[in-house]
Formats: sequence, C-alpha cells, structure tokens
Amino acid sequence: MIKQDVIVIGAGAAGLFCAAEAGKRGRSVLVLDHAKKPGRKILISGGGRCNFTNMYASPENFLSNNPHFCKSALSRYTQWDFVALVEKYNIAYHEKTLGQWFCDDSAKDIVNMLMAECDKASVKHQMQCEIRHIEKSAGGFMLDTNHGTYQCESLVIATGGLSMPKLGATPFGYQIAEQFGLSILPTRAGLVPFTLHDKDKQVLADLSGISVNASASCNNTSFNENILFTHRGLSGPAVLQISSFWQPGQKVEFNLYPNGDLHQVLQEKQQSSPDAQLATALAQVYPKRFVQAAIPYFNLSNKPLKQFQGKQLEQVAQAFEQWLLQPNGTEGYRTAEVTLGGLDTKHLSSKTMMAKDVEGLYFIGEVVDVTGWLGGYNFQWAWSSAWVAGQEV
Ligand code: FDA
Repeated sequence: MIKQDVIVIGAGAAGLFCAAEAGKRGRSVLVLDHAKKPGRKILISGGGRCNFTNMYASPENFLSNNPHFCKSALSRYTQWDFVALVEKYNIAYHEKTLGQWFCDDSAKDIVNMLMAECDKASVKHQMQCEIRHIEKSAGGFMLDTNHGTYQCESLVIATGGLSMPKLGATPFGYQIAEQFGLSILPTRAGLVPFTLHDKDKQVLADLSGISVNASASCNNTSFNENILFTHRGLSGPAVLQISSFWQPGQKVEFNLYPNGDLHQVLQEKQQSSPDAQLATALAQVYPKRFVQAAIPYFNLSNKPLKQFQGKQLEQVAQAFEQWLLQPNGTEGYRTAEVTLGGLDTKHLSSKTMMAKDVEGLYFIGEVVDVTGWLGGYNFQWAWSSAWVAGQEV
C-alpha cells in the first residue's frame, strides 16, 4: 500500500496544475491517469498552439446552473497570474484575436511548463493507471488500481468531461460523484459544430471551406465572428460559441452582414450600376461560390439591379441579415471542445472546490458544471479551480 497526502486523478490541465500547487506546499502528491501521456488535450488545443487563457476572462464568460460559483476561483487565480507563470518560463505568446492568448510555438510549451512545475514540487505520476475502486477510509480514501492500492488524505477528481473520447475522455468523474451521493446536471456537447437537415445540407455542403463573417444569435445571446461551411454542416467560431447556448429543436438566427447595412450597399450599387446582376453586386460582399449557392437557397432571382422595385432589395438584404436556420443537431462529443453540465456546484465549496459533505474529496476543471466560451476561458477555469484546490488539499 502506497500512502500519499494527495492523489489527483487526471493528468490534464486542471490535475497537473493542482498537483504542482499542492506539492509546493510540501504535500506528497501522486497523479494517476489512464492515458499513456499527460496533457493530451492541451497538446492539440488551439490548433496545436494552446489558447491558454483570455485577457478578458471574467465570470460573464462562463455557463453554469449557478453563474456565481466560478467567481471566487476566477478572482483568486486570474488570467494575469497564469500569464505571469508563462512569462516566468519564457514561453513566447501572442494575442490572436478578442483577447485570446496563444503560444507562439507549440502547446508542448504549456505541458512542459506544467510538468516542470510538478517536478519542482516533487509530484509523482503514474500513467496507464486504471482506477478500479475508490472507497472512503479512516482519514481519507483507498484506491484500488492496476498498479496496486493507494491511500490518501485528499482526493482530487480532475478527469474532465465527455468531449473527445478518442483522447481518453470518460464519465469517470461523474461516476465517482454519484458514488459519494453528489448529483450530476445533464451533460451535453458544447463548442461543437452544427449538423444540418437534408434540405439545407444539399445546398450548403457545396460551400465546404467557405468562411464568412456573421453574427449567430440564439436565446438572447449573440456572437459576431466567422462561420465556416463544412461538408458535414456549419462550424467556425460564431457557430461553436452559439452551440453552447442552443437547445435541440431551436432555430439560430445568422446575420451574414453584421457590421453594416446590406440594403444600403445594394441600393448604392443599384444607383451606380443598374445593369449589374444581383449576383455581381453580392459577389463584392461575399465569396462568389457562396453567392451562387445563396441566391437559389434564399429563393432570390438573379436579375439586373434596376429590376428590383419597391421593397425587393430590402427583402434581399433581409434574407442575408436574418437567416433563420434550424440545425439538425450537433456533431456531439466526438468533436466538441467541452462538456456542458456536470457535477452540480451546489455540492462544492466555491472557495476550495471540496465537496461540502465528503471531507477530503475535491472536483476541479471541466468535470464541474462550469463551462467557458471559446477563447481560452476553459483553460482559465481549469487553472483557477485547480489553484484554489491546490491551496487546500
Ligand atoms: P482534461 O480533459 O484536460 O483532462 C482529464 C484527464 O483525465 C485526461 O488526462 C484523461 O486521460 C484523464 N482521465 C479521464 N478519465 C479517466 C479515468 N477513468 N481514469 C484515469 N484518468 C482519466 N480550451 C481552451 O481554453 N483553449 C483552447 O485552445 C482549447 N482547445 C481545445 C481543443 C480541443 C480539440 C478540445 C477537445 C478542447 C479544447 N479546449 C480548449 C478545452 C480544454 O481542453 C478543456 O476544457 C480542458 O482540457 C479541461 O481540463 P481538465 O483538466 O478538466 O480535463
């Protein structure tokens, strides 16, 4: 039997950071993970450059059944604290857009930094470890694994959510929560592409690879970024963002000319080039291939601009500015960046992340019902929740 002060299950963003923080306090810490290598999601995040936090991170950027829960952790360990750590390790980084900070070189820099922090704090790791059974024991927890039996005072569950099972995601964290009588709020895929009904797919799949600036709105929330047509449906940052707010069966409204007045643009074109076809005028605003598909899709007639009378040009503009689309669904956990829902925060102390009714049991990171927008917010939640737990375990 191996005894540790702290065992962290999950060598992802939250688990590694929490382990290092606890180790720095002189606690003996062991991290267990069933994967071969630590930090797999970090490595592929941000297209391999890891969008590790966001300059503007604040509680408003997170979804949770209790929107107040994340405030304490986010204010005690902020994006500026994490950036200071990144700078201490001389990791070059840049703001890509909207306050999103990415590594200049590689997401490996972040994993190496976390591993170096763990090494400095004498944290031990056991990868390819299957945890078969956990039970409460006098003064802590007993874990039965394929590497033997472990005992610890504090047990941290940092096993993430359900997104990307091929990267090792499992419902383990939810199962442990339920074992200890803690409830799970319904989970669903977030930051995920939409799939389309056949009638939309037949037309829009031909646009695969085209990206247009758009605002996507649903349930009183809007995001103004790009949308990307794919052979499976719709993706791009605005779609991923709104997917977290969308419920099956609902429509999403897209404004494909969000930063101006398309009607005015078309009117001006009508004045200056009355013989130009509608498609020619629209091709000055959108990619040509998009215009060719959009005209029949929106039931518009391609004719010289001078032939559009009364409110007809306004109606053309409306088709692009108020496109109502009912997605068929989402691509699900296979491609989702995050899992919405999870461990109900009502069971946790927001100051320590410890379960209120299970002394010594902590939950951090994505397994908890706190989900960030796209843009580095999910990692910030991993760092902040891990840090506060790391000071207590
Ligand atoms: P995480 O999933 O990182 O780690 C969980 C760990 O637990 C894994 O190592 C896993 O192997 C282990 N585990 C699971 N089940 C287990 C079991 N039964 N036994 C033992 N171990 C088990 N966010 C962001 O802010 N910026 C970004 O750029 C991106 N990019 C991005 C790209 C892609 C493709 C994805 C899928 C996700 C992102 N994200 C992101 C989201 C971000 O990766 C995610 O929110 C964090 O990794 C969550 O950190 P956790 O430590 O909570 O879980």
